[in-house]
Amino acid sequence: MKIPYRTYLTEEEIPKQWYNIRADMPEQPAPLLNPGTLKPLTAEDLYPVFCEELANQEMDATTRYIDIPEEVLEYYKTFRPSPLIRAYNLEKALDTPARIYFKFEGNNTSGSHKLNAAAAMAYYAKAQGLTSLTTETGAGQWGTALAMACAYFGLDLTVYMVKVSYEQKPFRKAVIETYGGKIIPSPSDTTEVGRAILKEDPNTGGSLGCAISEAIELSLKDDKCRYALGSVMNQVLLHQSVIGLESKAAMEKLGEYPDIVIGCAGGGSNLGGLMAPFMQDKLTGKANPRIIAVEPASCPSLTRGKYAYDFCDTGKVTPLAKMYTLGSEFIPSANHAGGLRYHGMSPALSKLYHDGYMEATSVEQTKVFESAVLFSKLEQILPAPESAHAIHSAVEEALKCKESGEAKTILFGLTGTGYFDMHAYMQYNDGTMTDYIPTDEDLQRGFDKLPKVE
Ligand SMILES: Cc1ncc(COP(=O)(O)O)c(C=O)c1O
Repeated sequence: MKIPYRTYLTEEEIPKQWYNIRADMPEQPAPLLNPGTLKPLTAEDLYPVFCEELANQEMDATTRYIDIPEEVLEYYKTFRPSPLIRAYNLEKALDTPARIYFKFEGNNTSGSHKLNAAAAMAYYAKAQGLTSLTTETGAGQWGTALAMACAYFGLDLTVYMVKVSYEQKPFRKAVIETYGGKIIPSPSDTTEVGRAILKEDPNTGGSLGCAISEAIELSLKDDKCRYALGSVMNQVLLHQSVIGLESKAAMEKLGEYPDIVIGCAGGGSNLGGLMAPFMQDKLTGKANPRIIAVEPASCPSLTRGKYAYDFCDTGKVTPLAKMYTLGSEFIPSANHAGGLRYHGMSPALSKLYHDGYMEATSVEQTKVFESAVLFSKLEQILPAPESAHAIHSAVEEALKCKESGEAKTILFGLTGTGYFDMHAYMQYNDGTMTDYIPTDEDLQRGFDKLPKVE
């Protein structure tokens, strides 16, 4: 059988259920804790911040498959199924016996996989009778995705966008406003926590951690408003499982199964989603694919972080989560992969990594862009800098196959397009892009501020 360049499932083949990885984990991630009492949180504790159905999903570690609501499935049809693409041109250029596949999630206006979760969050908020949502965004993809979903389901939205990214990508504002969202660079003077962060460092470029604190503060001021988070949480991994389920179904049609699954990792949502059914096979002993998380060397949560309880935000208003973290006060350098500039990592992914089910690697941004440019010329898609981390690792693994002569099957997640990242590409092209790798002392400063939890 000649494997086509692109494999599309039909609309009817879009999965009807999300898969909840925790149902198959031999040991559960540690519970979220109330930072005041250090007691585990219940779903009800989260109701003031998250909409109720999402809070219930957050705490549900036992339901293996959860029905995707009909309205969300209908919405998915506007941009799913996404194609599984065989990177024939890349394989040829690398002269590798490896078969390289990528799942392309950038074929929607948000330019990324984030719309999979945004759809669910906007739907559940509307179903609960709420009138608005608020959120943070790093690179801007998540904010755009939520603006799109809020426009579709009829909700207002306020987005706090990390200031460095806001300045690097002015057109994100235009897109979010076009969809009816309000966008504020963070830290801002619209919240107490933003004002406090600015007082300490008026020139800070912000971070996802700061923007999360601001968005949560806003949501708590209005009973008809809730906060939506684009990564890290269990609910987001659940919604993103549609990526992996579709990938597995498409690969089955081709008689393929990945030996290696690769995803970039910011808060863990795309990797958590892509790997979900393959990790299920691993956890249940059906198969043993390698699963690799790729992060920036400038923000190495998994590869150099500590596995400890920490706040999910800089302003310390969130619950404590046990995860790989650089410390909630760690502000990563202004790396261009804005969506990967997060101090922590999904607690579920952290646990799987800690227990040896996953690997992690980190890469400097100039090397990432080298692979991004190679890929864009060969496969003709201009990747988001975040996604290019996964490309880089796939190239490395394919080159190892060339050395060893092994024809492994590699699957990576191409999470998005880089049309709003031209500032970054310009810097790479004119040779002014630099790499920043934090020293052990830099990291220690973050670790020193970790909360003390017995
Ligand atoms: C295109 C793209 N890829 C990857 C990520 C990383 O996030 P996550 O680890 O949650 O998938 C982001 C986050 O903004 C993104 O925009």
